[in-house]
Amino acid sequence: MALLRYFFLLLTFVVLLVIAMAGLRDTSFLSHKTKRPPLEFFPDMVRQDKVKAQAPNDFFADGRGAREAIHGTVPLGYTEPAARVSATHGAVMEGAYNVVLFAGQEDYADTGKSGTNWGNGLPFTATLATLERGRERYQIQCAVCHGATGLGNGIATKYGLVGVANLHQQRLRDMSDGEIYNTLVNGKNTMLGYGATIQVPDRWAIIAYIRALQLSQHVTSADLPSDATPAPQGAGGTNAAATPAQP
Ligand code: HEC
Repeated sequence: MALLRYFFLLLTFVVLLVIAMAGLRDTSFLSHKTKRPPLEFFPDMVRQDKVKAQAPNDFFADGRGAREAIHGTVPLGYTEPAARVSATHGAVMEGAYNVVLFAGQEDYADTGKSGTNWGNGLPFTATLATLERGRERYQIQCAVCHGATGLGNGIATKYGLVGVANLHQQRLRDMSDGEIYNTLVNGKNTMLGYGATIQVPDRWAIIAYIRALQLSQHVTSADLPSDATPAPQGAGGTNAAATPAQP
């Protein structure tokens, strides 16, 4: 009997000791709940010092945890954009536009993506011919809704189409070329995709033209070549977008 009494005394002592050390931490059965985390006796490296994505970090002078990619870094899964030769036609990106070129490859030119991110820039060098081609394709494929100048006031809106995006809004000026490319190909919300009817080089030519349209609304005289004389206000040609030439 004495042994049992000592056992219970010892048990009470041990219970009190544990409560004293660990406290009533995970006392969800009590009316007041503690915000303190439970004691971890064997944390098994669950918590470690590490940089979390996008989190600030004092270690670097600029206070940012994320480092900028070293110049020239190529994301995993990214294929360098190159002038592509079509096996059947021998056409390259910059070459003959009248050659049918639909793709379905995984590279930037076909997806607008570098690895898993939207990329920026054309996969070939834009020339004046690219812009002219882009204007033509834009006017055929996009202007009915987005308007000749991209204000979102194309002829279809006169017949009840609502919600057409104004391509001059800041969000779309800031948007990467790759994401716009994806909208063009696959559509977005109420806009259907046009990938089935627009060839790969033409898609990029349209984007180049949209960028030109956007730029046209934000040019200052400092951006103009020194030999260009800006037309005086009201003399025409200053703000073409305000008066769309044709619907
Ligand atoms: C039949 C009408 C129609 C045509 C044609 C059309 N769009 Fe759109 N587009 C829309 C509508 C409507 C929206 C707004 C979609 C939304 O967000 O609800 C839109 C939105 C967009 C956006 C903005 C998407 C975003 O991220 O918010 C872009 C960029 C765009 N269109 C590009 C194009 C290009 C390039 C073409 C020509 C290849 C084109 N659209 C042709 C109707 C059209």
